[in-house]
Amino acid sequence: MSSAGQSGTESATAEHPKAYPPPEEFAASAVATADLYDEADADRLAFWAKQARALQWDTDFTDTLDWSNAPFAKWFVGGKLNVAANCLDRHVEAGNGDRVAIHWVGEPGDTRDLTYAQLLAEVSKAANYIGELGLTAGDRVAIYMPMVPEAIVAILACARLGLPHSVVFAGFSAAALRSRVDDAEAKLVITTDGQFRRGKPAPLKSAVDEALGTGEDAAKSVEHVLVVKRTDHDPDLNWVQGRDLWWHETVGQASDQHSYTAFDAEHPLFLLYTSGTTGKPKGILHTSGGYLTQIAYTFKNVFDHRPETDVFWCGADIGWVTGHSYLVYGPLSNGATEIVYEGTPNSPNEHRHFEIIEKYKVTTYYVAPTLIRTFMKWGREIPDAHDLTSLRLLGSVGEPINPEAWRWYRTVIGADRCPIVDTWWQTETGAMMISPLPGVTHAKPGSAMRPLPGISAKIVDDDANPVAPGEQGYLVLDQPWPSMLRGVWGDDDRFRDTYWSRFAAQGWYFAGDGARYDEDGALWVLGRIDDVMNVSGHRISTSEVESALVGHSGVAEAAVIGAADETTGQGIVAFVILRSGVEDRGDELIDELKAHVSKDISPIAKPREIIVVPELPKTRSGKIMRRLLKDVAEGRELGDTSTLVDPTVFENIRRRNG
Ligand code: WT7
Repeated sequence: MSSAGQSGTESATAEHPKAYPPPEEFAASAVATADLYDEADADRLAFWAKQARALQWDTDFTDTLDWSNAPFAKWFVGGKLNVAANCLDRHVEAGNGDRVAIHWVGEPGDTRDLTYAQLLAEVSKAANYIGELGLTAGDRVAIYMPMVPEAIVAILACARLGLPHSVVFAGFSAAALRSRVDDAEAKLVITTDGQFRRGKPAPLKSAVDEALGTGEDAAKSVEHVLVVKRTDHDPDLNWVQGRDLWWHETVGQASDQHSYTAFDAEHPLFLLYTSGTTGKPKGILHTSGGYLTQIAYTFKNVFDHRPETDVFWCGADIGWVTGHSYLVYGPLSNGATEIVYEGTPNSPNEHRHFEIIEKYKVTTYYVAPTLIRTFMKWGREIPDAHDLTSLRLLGSVGEPINPEAWRWYRTVIGADRCPIVDTWWQTETGAMMISPLPGVTHAKPGSAMRPLPGISAKIVDDDANPVAPGEQGYLVLDQPWPSMLRGVWGDDDRFRDTYWSRFAAQGWYFAGDGARYDEDGALWVLGRIDDVMNVSGHRISTSEVESALVGHSGVAEAAVIGAADETTGQGIVAFVILRSGVEDRGDELIDELKAHVSKDISPIAKPREIIVVPELPKTRSGKIMRRLLKDVAEGRELGDTSTLVDPTVFENIRRRNG
């Protein structure tokens, strides 16, 4: 479990109040008021039906929820809508076509603004051309792109045509892309020639070529690769005739008028692969009506959104669920104006984010705690050098936020004026689930506070009994919610096993997080209780990194754990046993192993530390005792070693660890 300072029991002082009430002025005109809780409590389904009807439906739904085939939910039964039309056409038709949808801030210094009318025209072109390629509703499209406007255009064009997209983070390796393309049997891959990294061009399409292979090894499902020219700087750019197509020569020439069709509320909208405890990443399936309902509702109410005056900025990449929900569908379905930033926070220097806030007068800023801790490390002189007075609301997502970082965020970035919303949710939940409402709920530093109106959660013990305040238990969701995952792509058994078998008798969703309520009823999420690590807000399974390591010819066995890390929340620490006859070449070997994992999965999965050991601590039943490895990695006294086959293995491990 994460140990990022989740005490929650510290005593209150004048300087460090236990809870922060919403600022009066903010509360007085807040979008969401306390009656939202009452309304949802009075009739949960009627509440969700009302939220759904805030969208534009081509055919109204007849039933709010069909849960008869649990855990396979159907929300807004019989309803038909087009998700892209809800994000674009609706706003243009309402007379807001000239409102900026996206202020794109690119590298190296490129910028571009797109209004709703312009974005609709771009999406229409892409939809027209992708339709011409012969893809039909239900066909899957893989999107492997950096943070360029065309990535959002591609996503919305897929939504418009009813083609479920599978966005693969552009930092993932060719191998990771291939396994996702194969699993989803994608017909089309959309990518760019290259991407900028800290201002320097790097190839990207080459990874697509490597992933898709040739001849016997070619990915069977893929018919075309559509390539946006971004860097124009790959001297070895490979081109497969008949398969590869330039975006500007095809989409660029298509008509900007496109009439959409409406799809069933349960039509698949996207797949997003995420790590689990075992096996390969699973394709989490989200559908249209329920997803968009909860995304639009949470964006509006949790971010207190005012479309005429707010400038929203979500710092996530489109490769993660936060990017899908709060960079694409949430802001655009609300007609918001938002920042889309291509670069990193310290390129060209550490002032980058604050310059952008100042220049575009950002009002609402939503990032992961790991970034806040990085800002803390860089020092407050950096944000202090900028006018951040446009900010009025701050958000946190992806991992537990330690109270110290929360307070720093509130004081230094928010000038003690802006409420903070700490939002708990998951790839699987699709949208925010547990979070304060900024004008209503008191906020405690480090607590996500309470389930949002319409959402129900419990904290229970092994026998499904609610735990007492202060006690730790499992976080479960005991009622279905509109944006819940509808399955794991192609694997119903895995869907049931992973999420619904732990509390099968009760029919509850098992989130995989530990949590507790405090004496005031505030909910504290404590982190994963399974073998899933959270590094800088990214989810990586220990088994994935272990299998990458044993895929190296020198490694016989590997055990990986997430050790507490001051900046990234958790850091990956690997213990490896070398194959017999393999020479321990010290740092050279360690670097080679790190590079191997980086290439096999992604630089995100690169271990912080790799320790070569002669043996791993195992129980008599052969299970690796990760808890003890964690003690070693975090420099603690060892816990109970009595069940180990060979209690002396630790002397060797400690000696090696220095
Ligand atoms: C896991 C889900 C939420 C979208 C980005 C991550 C952890 C997420 C919080 C929070 C404490 C959090 C949980 C969860 N998590 N938000 N506010 N407080 N923990 O999505 O990759 O699917 O990861 O992130 O452990 O289970 P994800």
